[in-house]
Amino acid sequence: MAEVVIVRDQEEAGRLAAAAIARRLAVTENPVLGVATGSTPESTYRALAAAGQRLTGVTAFALDEYVGLPAGHPESYRAVLERELVAPLGMDPDMLRTPDASPEGLHDTGERYEAAIREAGGVDVQILGIGTDGHIGFNEPGSSLASRTRIKTLTQQTREDNARFFDSVDDVPIHCVTQGLGTIRDARHLVLLAFGEGKAEAVAAAVEGPVSSGVPGSLIQLHPSVTVLVDEAAGSRLAHADYYRLAYANKPSWQAL
Ligand code: GLP
Repeated sequence: MAEVVIVRDQEEAGRLAAAAIARRLAVTENPVLGVATGSTPESTYRALAAAGQRLTGVTAFALDEYVGLPAGHPESYRAVLERELVAPLGMDPDMLRTPDASPEGLHDTGERYEAAIREAGGVDVQILGIGTDGHIGFNEPGSSLASRTRIKTLTQQTREDNARFFDSVDDVPIHCVTQGLGTIRDARHLVLLAFGEGKAEAVAAAVEGPVSSGVPGSLIQLHPSVTVLVDEAAGSRLAHADYYRLAYANKPSWQAL
């Protein structure tokens, strides 16, 4: 099962995630980081920067990208990651890979992205958030657990959730390119973070519910190496919260996060 850690707040989660990432990057030749966007990973990127971590020599693959935004749009996931990851962590911008969502590139964007991940040696650590509807990446409910990178249609719920980054919900694209659940499952370690009451139901379903394409985040139960970092509110519907606390309080020093 996933290691579930219930933390005080986003900053503590960010510090733990950053430490786990730094440890893995340090022992990996040509490390590959899987990066997420949205509000959730921000404290992790901040903590990496605060710890003086530099991502020189690290390749990063984004989970997803909107379709239909003009190149360089500030809310395109490429632009977000250039601001929040590349600049503060001293990454070479060419080492940040995002799915090609340009009109000319769409027809084979998934195949090319999958090939690029393979050629880089696969993702060592994948950072994940989770949507209120249980999505990871942009794999909306119903996505095949075996899916690979492809074009998807966003649910109205996801568009409304993400409208805060745009002037209105109508400006949120309807389509995206996202790594599939099968792609995410291939990463060697997953770190899923979630904060706030709005994520509580999705977290409980993903961590403790049945494995189902209806809750794409439940894919984590099929992965042998997962860390889930949640604040009290996001963890408030976990049936086994006391057990997770007991396990973490008694975590042996030899067992890295
Ligand atoms: C977004 C992203 C996901 C993210 C999720 C949660 O739409 N595509 O990668 O994990 O939805 O977003 P947030 O972290 O802003 O709550």
